Amino acid sequence: MNAEQNALITRIGPGTACGALMRHYWQPVALLDEFDARLAPEMAQRPLKAVRVLGQDLVLFRDAAGQWGLLDRDCPHRGADLAFGRHEADGLRCPFHGWKFAADGRCLETPAEGRGSTLCQRVRQRSYPVQVKAGVVFAWLGDEGSTPSALPQLDCFTAPASHSFAFKGLWHCNWLQAFEVGIDPAHASFLHRFLQDESLDGAYGRQFRGASFGEVEGERWPMTRVLREFDSPEIRHQALAEGWIRLTTLRHINEALTHVRVTNALFPSTFVIPLSESITITQMHVPVDDEHNHWYSFFTSFGEPLDKETMRQQRLQGVSLPDYVPFKGRHNQWGFNAEEQRTRTYLGMGESDINVHDQWACESMGAIQDRTREHLGTSDKVIMANRRQLLQAIETVRQGGVPPMALSAEQAARLTGPDTIDCVAPAQAWEAFWTEAVAAKRAGAAWLDSTAAEATR
Ligand code: FES
Ligand SMILES: [Fe+2]
Repeated sequence: MNAEQNALITRIGPGTACGALMRHYWQPVALLDEFDARLAPEMAQRPLKAVRVLGQDLVLFRDAAGQWGLLDRDCPHRGADLAFGRHEADGLRCPFHGWKFAADGRCLETPAEGRGSTLCQRVRQRSYPVQVKAGVVFAWLGDEGSTPSALPQLDCFTAPASHSFAFKGLWHCNWLQAFEVGIDPAHASFLHRFLQDESLDGAYGRQFRGASFGEVEGERWPMTRVLREFDSPEIRHQALAEGWIRLTTLRHINEALTHVRVTNALFPSTFVIPLSESITITQMHVPVDDEHNHWYSFFTSFGEPLDKETMRQQRLQGVSLPDYVPFKGRHNQWGFNAEEQRTRTYLGMGESDINVHDQWACESMGAIQDRTREHLGTSDKVIMANRRQLLQAIETVRQGGVPPMALSAEQAARLTGPDTIDCVAPAQAWEAFWTEAVAAKRAGAAWLDSTAAEATR
């Protein structure tokens, strides 16, 4: 990859080619939790946040009628910062000269202009469509007046609130290198290797601490053991639809048994992976600007309702509010501990939160990875396939076409699932084994109707 291509696939600000592509998709801009006065008491009197996404500075607020407004942050009068605006019942008022804007961007008042002024009617602040799904506020930053694409009917958007939980965090690096970790199945055997296994009892809500579905000679193996002992997986990938790649990672345990991990890449920045036997993670890497991204994780349970409070408290250990900035980072060497690296983990950056491991992998490359200096191997084939897809999609948009996953309502209704699993399967019949296991999981999910379960098979 040359420097020009690397710039092309990573820069997403207004006016860039990749930015034009990314504006074909709804982008998460805030958790509903951030506006919940029980978790963020300041929201009780002023439900408003400055947000930055795709290199644009915006202000997100909810008016007294519950209407969301997402506006450009610079006041259209003389550019003062609306994030410091006066939150009024029916809109947001700039403190500089008192111009007031409704949630849809209409200018309601320009008080210093005097009675009879019609300036208001000629001014409008750009406002962006918003929708709330699965505990997250999504924004449409496409061209003004464009018809938003539809969000696919993924499990994470279909599950009821009792079975879904969302969380996020900020990483100091470009969105693409963060996404590329999620489609790199080989790294889990190294970056996330634990030299000892823990009891399965404390595994709730924690990646890789639980057991895979199935048994090895009557024993349930924690994922940590599978990953550690079988570190040269066979990686298969298959396009199930345009922009949807299923990854099947096989770890051959012995003649009779194969470990199967099924994950998915959804263009351009979402992956779907198993957390445990009954919980799936859908993770999106949202560009804040060229050098920062937010990960948004949607946890979806096919079994019991989620213990959201436990999951929230586990994750709040790692970030500072209100901006979800991680406590660990380059400034403190991501918590690196050489003694731990020698005796307990492969990386040496803690055992409780594997998110820090991925954060290090992404951030230590530098804000924007210099892809002219890398050497990719066969285990990187999905990363290569995704980059080809990305270059192609940028070209499609350049020519005025519709890129993968910019879905119509009909297409979105058909894009359901996707399936994920970690399981120990018979070596000769692993495909039938995992598909049956997933079908059983879906059949047992109280919130999935049988037609939906059928359609995703
Ligand atoms: S700059 Fe906002 S009202 Fe004047
Ligand atoms: Fe990882």
